[in-house]
Amino acid sequence: MTPMTPHTTSHPTHGVRKAVVPAAGLGTRFLPATKATPKEMLPVVDKPAIQYVVEEASAAGLDDVLMVTGRHKRAIEDHFDQASELERALEAKGDLARLHAVRSASQLARIHHIRQGDPLGLGHAVLCARSHVGNEPFAVLLGDDLIDERETLLKVMLDVRARYGGSVIALMEVDPSQIHLYGCAAVKPSDETGVVHVTGLVEKPSREVAPSNYAVIGRYVLDPKVFEVLERTEPGRGGEIQLTDAIEELALTDEVRGVVFTGRRYDTGDKAEYLRTVVRLACERSDLGPEFRSWLTEFVATFDIDLEGGRLAA
Ligand code: G1P
Repeated sequence: MTPMTPHTTSHPTHGVRKAVVPAAGLGTRFLPATKATPKEMLPVVDKPAIQYVVEEASAAGLDDVLMVTGRHKRAIEDHFDQASELERALEAKGDLARLHAVRSASQLARIHHIRQGDPLGLGHAVLCARSHVGNEPFAVLLGDDLIDERETLLKVMLDVRARYGGSVIALMEVDPSQIHLYGCAAVKPSDETGVVHVTGLVEKPSREVAPSNYAVIGRYVLDPKVFEVLERTEPGRGGEIQLTDAIEELALTDEVRGVVFTGRRYDTGDKAEYLRTVVRLACERSDLGPEFRSWLTEFVATFDIDLEGGRLAA
């Protein structure tokens, strides 16, 4: 019998093994919290945001994760590394629950790190992954977008890639007033429910020129051909090398499909949405939820906003 290799379609991820997680952003929206702490390390309940993303990649069967980081990102490397001293201390105390929590981050996948150097844009960050990824299809997961662990978006995207080849992006319908915050896709229906053909892409268009209300959300399964395109992609919107522009060019010669997501997604890159995410996920936790929910219900019922001072008055 021929031995199975990770490159055969019988692999659970259909030949996709590697995930790339760009994490070199400056986190300016969360200053001063992000002055010395990477924004990816901000806690969502009790785990850093980036751990949810790595857990999602791992749950979809991707066992090799490359973080594309920048300066001041040592904390990310440390978080996914073993912490022998801490682990020994917890073991000695018999605190097995916390020991497990500490260990699990370093056991999710084989985690690699590369530095982007100049932060020239998302497209450039993905191009930095070229030598690590090689000539294989790969996934890209953006850290600001958290997809609820009960959803199967990435698995569905890997399955679409396995059946049709080409590249696959995740799309979500948004209110037209919000489309200027996202990459936007021009689409045509396909034979399959929930899957569309992508015929064009534009990064953060105004509502007036947007070809649709299909927003690109931060999950991609890309054919390695994208690297050749990225090599020659000129800076676009904001003077940055945009991944959206490279996928737009790819769509001219190669198949690009969109999986339309209708599930739970949390945007932790936005302050208000970050707070909503923390509250929502805390409410749903079996350990914290019951007590937190009853406190929250009482809190909301008793407060009144003092609009003058912008403070809460009980
Ligand atoms: C990036 C992409 C954009 C995409 C968005 C999803 O933008 O460039 O196409 O819609 O992520 O979160 P950013 O939010 O990093 O500016």
